Amino acid sequence: MRDAAYDDFIDKLRSSCDIVEVIAEYVPLKKKGNNFWGCCPFHSEKTASFSVNPAKGFFYCFGCQAGGNVFTFLMKVENISFWDAAKQLANKLNIPLPEKEKSAQELAREREITSLYKVNQMASEFFHSCLMNTNYGVKPLQYLHERGVAREAMIEYQIGFAPPGWDKLFTSFRSRGVEPELLLNAGLIMQRASGNGFYDRFRERIMFPICDVRGRVIGFGGRVMDGDQPKYLNSPETKVFNKRRVLYGFDKAERHIRSSGQAIVVEGYMDLITAQVSGVHNAVASLGTAFSVEQSRLLLRCASEIVFAYDSDAAGQNATARALAMVRDQGASVRVISVPDGKDPDEFIRRQGAEAFQLLIDKAPAFLEYMLRQSLRDTDYSTLEGKVSVVGKLLPALAVSDNAVEVNAYIVKIAQILALDEQSIRSELRKFQTSQQTNLVTKQKKEVFAGSRKMNEATHQAEQLLIRLMCENQQFIEVIQERLNISSIQDQNHLEIIHSIYITYEQKNDFDPAAITSELTEPAAAEFSQIMMSESNFDDIQRILSDCLRTIQVAYLNHLYEQHRLRADELERLGDSSFLQELAESQRIKNEINKIHKLQ
Ligand code: UTP
Ligand code: MN
Repeated sequence: MRDAAYDDFIDKLRSSCDIVEVIAEYVPLKKKGNNFWGCCPFHSEKTASFSVNPAKGFFYCFGCQAGGNVFTFLMKVENISFWDAAKQLANKLNIPLPEKEKSAQELAREREITSLYKVNQMASEFFHSCLMNTNYGVKPLQYLHERGVAREAMIEYQIGFAPPGWDKLFTSFRSRGVEPELLLNAGLIMQRASGNGFYDRFRERIMFPICDVRGRVIGFGGRVMDGDQPKYLNSPETKVFNKRRVLYGFDKAERHIRSSGQAIVVEGYMDLITAQVSGVHNAVASLGTAFSVEQSRLLLRCASEIVFAYDSDAAGQNATARALAMVRDQGASVRVISVPDGKDPDEFIRRQGAEAFQLLIDKAPAFLEYMLRQSLRDTDYSTLEGKVSVVGKLLPALAVSDNAVEVNAYIVKIAQILALDEQSIRSELRKFQTSQQTNLVTKQKKEVFAGSRKMNEATHQAEQLLIRLMCENQQFIEVIQERLNISSIQDQNHLEIIHSIYITYEQKNDFDPAAITSELTEPAAAEFSQIMMSESNFDDIQRILSDCLRTIQVAYLNHLYEQHRLRADELERLGDSSFLQELAESQRIKNEINKIHKLQ
């Protein structure tokens, strides 16, 4: 929803905030020339390729091509919406939020979200109180006690108990005026199959409230005390509970993860509580085995190393392999704890103590080591087939490593263990890498052929320069609008940027380029930031402008010429006499190109 007050607010935020100051809270920055440099927070790197230009209000990473303005940065780094980024900035700068006129729909949605948080909080208190203060709590307290959960932990994690019977929560909440619809939407009750009447979703279960990053209750996991199925029943997805985005215990672990730069991922509720309570404060639980991309992003925002401590059963190990591959792709460094004797971290810590667990963390093998141990464990490598299979399994892991020293050490090690010749492993690895690259090249070739336009570097640069000129010398925009045939712009991102510039300029002569970034799709925003980040100064702007326009136009005409020529060839082959017209048209274009060259 747009209105003038909102636009003013956003403009004010942008002009009052110092992008360097904002980004420096996440990334240490050093000044070099007009820009500030640091290590990119969006991919893992050791040399600084992430730059911030305070004057223009852009950031851009030359390593991973992430780029944008101060809002884009906050959205990416905090994983939040544009509006939340704006609010966060406003808060920091002490700028009051605009009295935004919200649509009835927006207001209704906001109200619903607020009441979902509220009713979840109420339910959490209800379950906790049932456990701690009522007779219903006797048996579950005994159960928790036997599992070694202290009273302090029950309070800290607001553990509760959903009483037996069909509608204890429902009746209690109804008497307090809570509407059934809200309880349904929060996943706390279910509708009877007959269609009339409701019953509690959670009955006779130990309740673990699940909180979002800010510690607000958004859902529950409930465990049975006997062998009933399912062992854990979780809240369904709701407007505030998205299982892929939540990590149990993250609200408590976040600052420890930030300060240690490391996160320990366990599977279950009890693993998490036991780990954190016994001093492993940087632990979080993925709630089941499937570790999602969203969960990994949440962690990688504050840590560069993730240590998996999944159960040693088959499900846990398969999940570990999948999680590892995914997290490696995101540039994190990963290690894996193998809890001995088939125990989960909860049992292990209870029996062996937190120090023994910390030791497991400290000597947890890195990715390659883990893959090596796994493949050796699963294969009989005394046979030739076995050796081949082990090497085959390890090649993908070796190929993704960007650490040559590490790779070399592993090749030596593998050769020793398998009694193979090092050279043959090296040559297998090279073959594997080449085949991967060939796949990549074929893919890129296909993409080039799919788009009929092949763009050369000079044209690409001319388009970039033109965009920069428009932003830095806005008096040129009208001239460019007149002289540039917009369909001669070849790069889709550039086309999007130029459109956006035209529209913004129409609304407001003299605009702030950084403002446009928020209107663009992600690849276009990144491209735009890269363009705006370049440093060169121009002496003869008029000439550069004409050069750019000419390069772009000639490239376009060449493209048209080629199209008509191809068409002419094809028609001629088919015996269609209209090929002559195509030929004539291509000749006309050729003349036009020659004329431009002569004028130069
Ligand atoms: P586990 O079966 O390993 O249970 O599931 P656990 O964590 O060791 O639980 P305890 O120690 O027996 O109490 C690991 C996690 O997978 C999810 C839960 O988050 C659980 O903590 N899970 C498991 C479910 O959501 N539903 C289930 O039925 C089972
Ligand atoms: Mn367990």
